[in-house]
Amino acid sequence: MDLRIEKGSAEKFSCELLLLFSFQSPSSLEGPIQKVDQAWNGFLSTLIEQNDFKGELFQCRLIHTQGALPAKRVVLAGLGKKEELDLEKWRGVASKAGQFIRELGIKQVTCPIQPFKDESEEELTDALVTGFLLGTYQFDEFKTLDRDKAKKIDDLILLGETVETVQQIQRGLNRAQIISNAVCMARDLANAPSNNVTPSTLAEKAKEIAKQEGLDVQVLELHEAEAMGMGAFVAVAKGSQEPAKFIVMEYNKNQTLDTIVLVGKGITFDSGGISIKPADRMDQMKADMSGAAAVLGALQAAAKLRLPLHLVGIIPATENLPSGKAYKPGDILKTLSGQTVEVISTDAEGRLILSDALTYSLRYQPRAIIDLATLTGACVIALGDYVIGLFGNDEPLLKKVEEASIKTGEKVWRLPLWEEYFEYIKSDVADFKNVGTRAAGAIIGAIFLRKFVETIPWVHLDIAGPAFIEKERPYTPKGGTGVGVRLLVQLLRDWSSSNPNPQ
Ligand code: BES
Ligand code: ZN
Ligand code: ZN
Repeated sequence: MDLRIEKGSAEKFSCELLLLFSFQSPSSLEGPIQKVDQAWNGFLSTLIEQNDFKGELFQCRLIHTQGALPAKRVVLAGLGKKEELDLEKWRGVASKAGQFIRELGIKQVTCPIQPFKDESEEELTDALVTGFLLGTYQFDEFKTLDRDKAKKIDDLILLGETVETVQQIQRGLNRAQIISNAVCMARDLANAPSNNVTPSTLAEKAKEIAKQEGLDVQVLELHEAEAMGMGAFVAVAKGSQEPAKFIVMEYNKNQTLDTIVLVGKGITFDSGGISIKPADRMDQMKADMSGAAAVLGALQAAAKLRLPLHLVGIIPATENLPSGKAYKPGDILKTLSGQTVEVISTDAEGRLILSDALTYSLRYQPRAIIDLATLTGACVIALGDYVIGLFGNDEPLLKKVEEASIKTGEKVWRLPLWEEYFEYIKSDVADFKNVGTRAAGAIIGAIFLRKFVETIPWVHLDIAGPAFIEKERPYTPKGGTGVGVRLLVQLLRDWSSSNPNPQ
């Protein structure tokens, strides 16, 4: 989709379709819609007064102007109740309007930016463009039939009336485009099947991003990981024929900026290994690399936004498959940290590969480590598929994540990490085991990871629920969601703006 900005007023602008917004039962019209209404001799206000358009949240309606305006058509989109409108709802409205217009088969949309409440034009544009781009995302790479019938919007034109507003709109648009493209890239990676996205594909993607954005990238092969002592990562990788990759990316390397490490679980397919999973929905385990996808997306966006931070992205990438060479329940592994782990289930592989990645991240002495992983089904049971499980060892860092969550609408909820939970993973034969009882499954996963971060401020995001969804949401089609990208980028933006004189 091509996005651009024009200076002009909606009522005077000649185009295929004008997108306008209205509150539910407004006492009077405000902003661009009011000017259009005036130019149209009160046609829109009559329509609204007669209840032919109620303005309910997400409601959309097409109207032909029949020459009354330079625009050929108008789509009215409902904002719902004025007092309930926030940026999250704006994203949803923009998405629903985009989907509605796409289904009409119209390829060009013009949308005047209207101020609302205390939000600047910049923030509003950001929300609108984010909702529009994320809501109209489609994964059709592998469809060959009826391709010519596929509907797509080609152009989105944003209208600003003054030079000042045009500048604000430009800033909001740039940011939203960078971040939304990163989300869509992460979605593509999660949606693509495991015969298409392998550990090598993730490594190639990392190299591609690195080349485009001028990052450093290093890809360790399995024998190098083995020589280094990554016994847990290597054990998981052993069962698969597909070469495993340990990917390390660095943005602003060697600069005296705050260092933050992002770690993403990159299991490109999780069969469970010898502790094999049931067949039902095993196909969804192609998305078990969603943490890795989020890290790739966040690094790409952070680099494009030129955030003043030193960022390291670490992605242990492998398949988890059963075979004659696969690791087995009862095996004892020596992790990179030196600690030993008894394997109870080969299906708790995420925490194993992450343990070595977390230990590896300590060499950067970062100000924070954030890991993202589709780690436990238990987290989905606890919180559902709307919410990310949030764990950590550092109150200020946890708060930062919660603040970023509120701003982006990517919901997080904190779960405890008390010492007592270590009891569950004590082992008779090794330092600890990779699985406890069924109780507190998401917490046990997190407490296991905690053993590998020493005293560095660390947050673990269990994205097993929201990474891949079966029912669409206002601006998230079903399938891979790219969850975590927007949350991470917001956190990094907040971090860099609150910390102008780092380290
Ligand atoms: N990748 C799964 C977790 C998962 C489940 C992600 C559902 C997305 C949706 C993970 O590797 C796994 O299998 N975890 C086990 C852990 C158990 C053996 C302690 C689980 O959740 O059952
Ligand atoms: Zn598993
Ligand atoms: Zn897994």
